[in-house]
Amino acid sequence: MERTQVAIIGGGPAGMLLSHMLHLDGIDSVVLERQTRDHVLKRIRAGVLEYGTVKLLREVGLGERMEREGHAHDGTWIAWENRRPFLIDTKRHTGKQMWSFGQTAITEELYRVRARDGGRVIDDVRQVTLHDLTGERPWIGFERNDKTQRLECEFVAGCDGHHGVSRNGIPKERLRTFERAYPFGWLGIMSETPPLGDIMYAQHSRGFALASQRNPMLSRYYIQCDLATDPDEWPDERFWEELKLRFPPDIAHKIVTGPSVEKSIAPLRSFVSEPMSYGRLFLAGDSAHIVPPTGAKGLNLAVSDVYYLHRALIAQIKRSDGRYLERYSETALRRVWNAERLSWQLTQLLHVFPDDDDFTRRVRLDEFDYLQSSTAAQAALAEQYVGLPFE
Ligand code: APR
Ligand code: PHB
Repeated sequence: MERTQVAIIGGGPAGMLLSHMLHLDGIDSVVLERQTRDHVLKRIRAGVLEYGTVKLLREVGLGERMEREGHAHDGTWIAWENRRPFLIDTKRHTGKQMWSFGQTAITEELYRVRARDGGRVIDDVRQVTLHDLTGERPWIGFERNDKTQRLECEFVAGCDGHHGVSRNGIPKERLRTFERAYPFGWLGIMSETPPLGDIMYAQHSRGFALASQRNPMLSRYYIQCDLATDPDEWPDERFWEELKLRFPPDIAHKIVTGPSVEKSIAPLRSFVSEPMSYGRLFLAGDSAHIVPPTGAKGLNLAVSDVYYLHRALIAQIKRSDGRYLERYSETALRRVWNAERLSWQLTQLLHVFPDDDDFTRRVRLDEFDYLQSSTAAQAALAEQYVGLPFE
């Protein structure tokens, strides 16, 4: 039997950041992770950080590698077929910059600082079960190396992603879920080539494309694809050729190609589950909500949830002040829904849908033209793209 103040289910960015931030305030936690360490550290995910995420990572001592390997951007470009490219200019409209820095590197950093500080992270656990969530002493059952174990705690943080078990700890009749599945995916590659200077979305009648980056010698590119696409049918040459067709020729011509070091398909989905708490269980990150990658909000939402949850747990544990915990779900969900709407809106704007008709295409074009011509529309988009401030 083990004991801790906060049991954290899931060792992704949400769980590990929470564990690190609690430690900085002298609160003990144990992280239970289903996968092996190797698996967790190799996962490739999005890599654009909102201003608030960058600020928070710096404040908790995780800024150094981000400054060294990442890159600040004044905004993100939209290259629209047969139109002038448009910059979502976060610097101009909000005074804030975004940052390119991969989630894979952030996860590595989190594991490094938790190991340095003696954090307890138990990998490769099976059969995680949550108990007595509405009592004073919740506990977690799990198996490791075929042995059944028990972790007693004061609070449970469900940070186990979309396919985790924590969300099921909330009785079905209390849960309300909202979702949308999009009829396409993104085929992504990573290549050890110098990226374009900017992050750039491409809207094109052949489908959406995206040029992004991780560091000065690591580029990330995506193209919209059919859900049934087999990555093996996309050798590198075919990918590069298709990618270049979707960008305006003068930009396509600047893309430096090379062998891919990773290639995979991600489906696009929006999902929110409310509320994000039940008794002493609090959900954070993908366990409560997912967004399509358009807008790169996933990791940023995990970070804002953790910001709110950490503040609430500290108030409760250190000052017996439960007001933040009581309002954790509604506070976190306000930001979640803004990001849900923004990523849905950008997905609608930038992709080709199978049932698009002429009217839809024309309205979409008008939305882009309006954005090009209206400073008010530009400011509204920039404010949400850079991320609403934490409350
Ligand atoms: N028990 C323990 N751990 C589990 C369980 C379980 N039953 N189920 C899942 N996990 C682990 C997963 O193996 C994973 O390491 O929980 C972790 C959840 O991590 P993420 O999926 O990365 O979710 P989160 O930490 O909320 O981070 C959100 O990840 O999916 C991206 O776009 C998303 O960038 C965002 C970020
Ligand atoms: C990425 O770099 O992986 C990325 C960038 C922007 C997005 C989504 C993903 O909107």
